[in-house]
Amino acid sequence: MDILGAFAEFETQSLAAIAAAADEAALEQVRVDYMGQKSGRIRDLQKLLGMADKDQKPVVGKRFNEVRTAISAALEERAVGLRAAAAETSSSFDVTLPGTVQRGGRLHPITQVINEFRELMGRFGFTVVDGPEIEDERHNFEALNIPEDHPARDPLDNFYLACAGAVSGGPVLLRSQTSTVQIRTMEQTQPPIRIVSLGRVYRPDTIDATHSCMFHQMEGLLVDRHVTMAQLKTVLSQFAHSFLGPDVEIRFRPSFFPFTEPSVEVDMRWGDTWMEIGGAGMVDPAVFESVGYDPEEYQGFAFGLGIERFCMKHFGVDDIRRFYENDLRFLSQFG
Ligand code: DAH
Repeated sequence: MDILGAFAEFETQSLAAIAAAADEAALEQVRVDYMGQKSGRIRDLQKLLGMADKDQKPVVGKRFNEVRTAISAALEERAVGLRAAAAETSSSFDVTLPGTVQRGGRLHPITQVINEFRELMGRFGFTVVDGPEIEDERHNFEALNIPEDHPARDPLDNFYLACAGAVSGGPVLLRSQTSTVQIRTMEQTQPPIRIVSLGRVYRPDTIDATHSCMFHQMEGLLVDRHVTMAQLKTVLSQFAHSFLGPDVEIRFRPSFFPFTEPSVEVDMRWGDTWMEIGGAGMVDPAVFESVGYDPEEYQGFAFGLGIERFCMKHFGVDDIRRFYENDLRFLSQFG
């Protein structure tokens, strides 16, 4: 019997069958038919191997291994090819289907303005500090020289909370101004001080296009020796120029705040209109005394600006309520 001839025939036939297998299932069938351990045709070859003459055995054995290796390699190669072809034609990737739009998030317009304010004031050397939104009367009123009978302390003009403060035990309220942070900073630091604080404040105002019961302020405080109102005006006008451009003007109008003396309202001119943007002044000596600073030694200026005002003007928004409605059609227009 021509054992080597039988091997050659087996090899040719199995390689042809492998090449003809149209998919992975067909290829698996070919593998079982030819190479299967239980009933594959390879078993016939093994039997022939056993029948070979003693001197023929080394040659036949070597050839048997070669054939087996060649077929295994061919099976593997064909499997890889079929898999790649299947992936290419598979319906999981249809180039004609519309893509999935990746919707990127963006910062809220007010957050954008807050970030820009921080950055601008940082360049003027002001550090950003934070304060709590739930305050006691000392920080919201008393240390700011706002007496008990001042209309700003009317319970109806503030959001007092029904619980007492955890530390002081006294009444607590949602802060009505960021000026509270002036006190908190001075209580913990010695001059010189140069800080801004940006955050939410709460007042039970009637809500309309320009009023909200929650809005944002930027508070500024500078304390040092030889501080003047001219420096206050310079800082605010430099700030306005940086944010809005060189044409913007700034104007002070005499006013009154319990925590500054003298006090001013700050207006900015955008185009033809003057707009009130906040209050400012020289820190009242009574405030210094309430935090243990010597008013003879130090002076300071402070300011509080409404952030929504800037934001509305900057983005051309005419109703403050839009900022808080979480309407993506509105919010996605900015940034
Ligand atoms: N806290 C004042 C308000 O909410 C604004 C203000 C006025 C802040 C004068 C100041 C200041 O720091 O000096 O109406």
